Amino acid sequence: MKAYVVNHPGGPEVLELTDVSTPALKAGWTRVKVLGFGINHSEIFTREGKSPSVEFTRILGIEVVGEVDATSDETTFKPGQKVVSIMGEMGRAFNGSYAEYVLLPNKQIYPITSNLPITELAAIPETYYTAYGIFKSLQIKANDRILIRAATSGVGIADFNLIKAFDKAITVVGTTRSKSKKQELLRAGFDEVIVASSSTKLPANTGNFDKIIDLIGPQSVPDTLQHLNEYGIVSATGELGGVWALNDFDPIMAIPNNCYLTGFYSGDVSASAIQEMFTFIENHHVNVQPSKVFDFSQVVQAHQFLETQHGLGKVVVTFSTQIHH
Ligand SMILES: NC(=O)c1ccc[n+]([C@@H]2O[C@H](COP(=O)([O-])OP(=O)(O)OC[C@H]3O[C@@H](n4cnc5c(N)ncnc54)[C@H](OP(=O)(O)O)[C@@H]3O)[C@@H](O)[C@H]2O)c1
Repeated sequence: MKAYVVNHPGGPEVLELTDVSTPALKAGWTRVKVLGFGINHSEIFTREGKSPSVEFTRILGIEVVGEVDATSDETTFKPGQKVVSIMGEMGRAFNGSYAEYVLLPNKQIYPITSNLPITELAAIPETYYTAYGIFKSLQIKANDRILIRAATSGVGIADFNLIKAFDKAITVVGTTRSKSKKQELLRAGFDEVIVASSSTKLPANTGNFDKIIDLIGPQSVPDTLQHLNEYGIVSATGELGGVWALNDFDPIMAIPNNCYLTGFYSGDVSASAIQEMFTFIENHHVNVQPSKVFDFSQVVQAHQFLETQHGLGKVVVTFSTQIHH
């Protein structure tokens, strides 16, 4: 089969399209024919050698939409059945989805029924699972005023789509560092956009919010907390600022009275949580269209595209040229 093999950490060019053996089926695992996958910021970190659990040589890819090809559990899975999978050390401790086939532990394979086209399905698993987890944790109410920091990210746009599908009247404000992306966010339907040139601090005249989704993460969270209304909630779920932990964090002083700080980890996943997310998307007709679709032959370009941060929202890869055997 063809797969993108990374032999050593580096830039997008270390993703080498290579002929490798199709993974052999083993007890407790299922081989999935890959139909599409999203490109995630975390895969850039992994490719750069910043994921502690990763040893190279490795095929990256932490999520997949595919079909069961061969399985060790024929009572649960049927060949040809549509499935998704995310995380569980896929693309880190064992080979991931940047390939024609991926071998996955049975316990992290989730069958789905959906008539969405593959380009849209591929945008969902990791990004919408995360965005939906954030959405739930915020206990959103009518009249909430919500801020998304790093709104142009895949997760940021996904949360915007979930919130607006839930209640169009909720005010959603987004931040970007880029003046040109301000217009794109407004065109996408954001009620207001703040151009924040600093990742650490919001501009001086920024008001307060009921809920804040902070995808920049520990670099900006102390500042984010200072922009909450009483009983407001911050979800600190990203690390785009490149800072991974809140060092010397004093919750008494840093969290304003009657305010809440929460998080979400997409590695904590279950079949029922995946199903709940798909049901929400279907029932609320959430717009899950990716912003950019690349062919499997263009994974290097897909990484370059995500890295240069020209885009808005989710980048996916599908097999528009049929190379399955
Ligand atoms: N907790 C979890 O389980 C979980 C799961 C999935 C993802 N995540 C995290 O969620 C975040 C978003 O992931 P993604 O894949 O959606 O990202 P993405 O699409 O690659 O995000 C790209 C955007 O990030 C913004 N950005 C990049 N560096 C930044 C910086 N230093 N300061 C401010 N903004 C910056 C850029 O916005 P502008 O150019 O417009 O400023 C860019 O458009 C990541 O940190 C990822 O690790 C967490």
